[in-house]
Amino acid sequence: MATIYIETHGCQMNEADSQYIARRAQSAGYALCEKAEDASVLVLNTCTVRDNAERRAYGRIGSWKKLKAADPAVKVVVAGCLAEQDKERMGDIAPHIDGIFGPKDLAKLGDALVAWRSEFTDDDLTEDRALLVAMDNAGSGVSGPYDRLRAYVNVQRGCSYYCTYCIVPHVRGRFDHRAIGEIIAEVERKVAAGAREVTLVGQTVNAYKEPASGADFADLLATIAALPGVERLAFITSHPNDFNEKLARAFGSIPNLNPRFHLPVQSASNPVLRKMNRKYTIEQYREKIALFRQFAPDWALTTDIIVAFPSETEDDFQTTLALCEDGMFAQAYMFVYSQRRGTPAAHWEPISNAIGQERLMRLAAVVDRGVRAFHDRKIGTTVRALIHGPSRKDQAMLSAKTLDNVTVVFPTIEDPSAPRIDEPWVDVQIDSAAVWGLRGSAVRRAARFNDPGYAVQAIPQTLDLVSLAR
Ligand code: 5AD
Ligand code: SF4
Repeated sequence: MATIYIETHGCQMNEADSQYIARRAQSAGYALCEKAEDASVLVLNTCTVRDNAERRAYGRIGSWKKLKAADPAVKVVVAGCLAEQDKERMGDIAPHIDGIFGPKDLAKLGDALVAWRSEFTDDDLTEDRALLVAMDNAGSGVSGPYDRLRAYVNVQRGCSYYCTYCIVPHVRGRFDHRAIGEIIAEVERKVAAGAREVTLVGQTVNAYKEPASGADFADLLATIAALPGVERLAFITSHPNDFNEKLARAFGSIPNLNPRFHLPVQSASNPVLRKMNRKYTIEQYREKIALFRQFAPDWALTTDIIVAFPSETEDDFQTTLALCEDGMFAQAYMFVYSQRRGTPAAHWEPISNAIGQERLMRLAAVVDRGVRAFHDRKIGTTVRALIHGPSRKDQAMLSAKTLDNVTVVFPTIEDPSAPRIDEPWVDVQIDSAAVWGLRGSAVRRAARFNDPGYAVQAIPQTLDLVSLAR
């Protein structure tokens, strides 16, 4: 059997691309597998937005060398942004790679899978490979039973903003918006395949403009939300400049839109924002938030922040700290500035890593307080969440995500060997909160988001779940 293992690093754009690769592979006759050592073709969908993403990808590519050595028939493929960035030199760094495909070359990767298919027979798992110790699954996959519940659909490629720190426009190119008809077709296909929550993805989704009709992102949201079977709709990422009243109104009026808005601020200091080429001041950012709150008072607001950007002073940093002290963010993804080759900021005097790490820690302490407060407010409530799968840390627990994207774990209500993906909605009564998420117990589960559901109980802990799984 020809099998393919796809590991995804980085953003939701890569999740969407991995779903495309999976679909091309399946129609070419491959089965998806959950472990690298079981695969005829290994695909690493990479990220290069920061240096640690790049290092992690090379580490993973290196670790696959032994699989290729054990069975030379195995193909190792690198896709995504690092593939684009390093296509000239990657073959020299890692000669065991069989294919390098940037984000614009995914169709070619699909063609290569078709061409390779005949090389794999049904008894291609050599003993050597079977003996290799199981490797940890470091990235998220597309092959788990619950993965099909969530569909990621690209609405645009690339970005034309050219923030001075960012590699994305350089590796993914300028904006290229997809036609609505194509987006609809993909959503319908994924819903037919079991998707319950659709996430529209792009670097700046709210800049969406359909080339032919001029339809904007608010129009797109309304169209997709109304498609039969789209139980929940989410989207990521937005740019403050493209947020307007029409979109704010859409947030308030589309009932199946998930109540979460990710709006990267990056810094609260105007000189830093200017140097980043973000094209807004912090006062303008706050105005956008006020507009958003007018129509979506209960939504979760999340953000991205970069610390130690070249020239960021202690005062600049303090301004960012103060913004977070307001407690306006339900979550903030924080990064130490990482120099990317070919970007304007790479020519500027960097701030020492020690200062960067120290600012990150101070910021994290403030952000975590806000996150914890947001989670604490859910204690005692019952929230409907979409199952994600067994908790990574404890097979006796299931993990799910609330509509506002908080992880919630609870004692399992199903036999892990027979996942009930036909009933993926769970009402969880929240007992306690932490920075990472929530704990509770499942009280109901439902086949459809709008169904009331029926009462459930946890499988008693005394039951041996491992033997159940056999
Ligand atoms: N260094 C650190 N963080 C970065 N980001 C993008 N480029 C860099 C970089 N060079 C962060 C931004 C962006 C998120 C996806 O990654 O905060 O919003
Ligand atoms: Fe990068 Fe800026 Fe575009 Fe976001 S908006 S992808 S940070 S260039």
